[in-house]
Amino acid sequence: MPSSAPTTPTSIELVADGLVLEVVTAGAAVRRLLVTDAEGDTNVALGHADPMTYAADGGYLGATIGRYGNRLSRARFTLDGVEHTITANEGDNALHGGLDGFDRRAWTVEDQGPSHVRLALHSPDGDQGFPGALDVTVTYRVEPGLVRIGYSATADRDTVLSLTNHTYFNLDGEGSGPVDEHDLTVSADAFTPTDAQLLPTGEVRDVTGTPFDLRRPTRLGVALCGDDEQLVHGKGLDHNFVVRGTGLRHVATLLGASGRTLDIESDQPGVQVYTGAHFDGTVVGTSGTAYGPRAGIALETQGFPDAPNHAHFPSTVLRAGETYASTTTWRLTRD
Ligand code: GLA
Repeated sequence: MPSSAPTTPTSIELVADGLVLEVVTAGAAVRRLLVTDAEGDTNVALGHADPMTYAADGGYLGATIGRYGNRLSRARFTLDGVEHTITANEGDNALHGGLDGFDRRAWTVEDQGPSHVRLALHSPDGDQGFPGALDVTVTYRVEPGLVRIGYSATADRDTVLSLTNHTYFNLDGEGSGPVDEHDLTVSADAFTPTDAQLLPTGEVRDVTGTPFDLRRPTRLGVALCGDDEQLVHGKGLDHNFVVRGTGLRHVATLLGASGRTLDIESDQPGVQVYTGAHFDGTVVGTSGTAYGPRAGIALETQGFPDAPNHAHFPSTVLRAGETYASTTTWRLTRD
């Protein structure tokens, strides 16, 4: 049953050579990602100081996002001729699954070992307006230097689904300040521009000659400068990039001033790059530091935002009885 009743979340620590991943059951969220190197332990993921914050409204920090990552225009879509209305939670639009998204749910631990945990959630037919009962799992698995996130879901009616993880990274350490000195590379020749409400216009724009050409490592502080209309809409980067190729492949590389590197692979068609413009000091992180603008960067592997309303975007339809399966990996290294 969808519920926002705040139950105390359980915290699970997964351990592999060189890293520790802390996951909380509320929102099936990543709370900490500790990497060990010559400098000792550094937490490279933003997380709430108080685990209870995840149970009420975690502001999507580290959370599993569902049923639909990013925005659905006017909180509705038509599937096979039937219009479905989703609970709107950002003006007239639905963001990250609507009012009571998967990020606010108490997930159940289905299976657990020293280096993996599988969390499960049942989302009933009509949950937030989405058709079909959906059973979904997310599995976090750690290996030396690697985090692997696996999603699986089935529905009993045709529906739409786009799951992602909303971890904000700061490779110089959570709470160390803005990510402006990070270099970002994204394997994308195109992106999907938005209107002022951050809804895709439907255009798929070549990145060539735009601030969105991140095919070579680009200093974020530099990428975010300029008066490009799209950067104004996103108050920085808040855009879906069209990841080149298909299957499990390179999506993005983030390099901190510290020399720590994150390589992301995924089988999803898009990645939302969000430079965290909204942080205004109200979120207090695990180190006790209040997060300011650009305290972290989210790299959300996903179906395209609002794809159910754009027939030429890759389909996010999940047919009844089919299994949705998706993988994203984070590889952490240091120069
Ligand atoms: C996504 C959106 C952003 C913002 C964050 C959550 O990245 O694209 O606009 O809503 O989620 O704060």
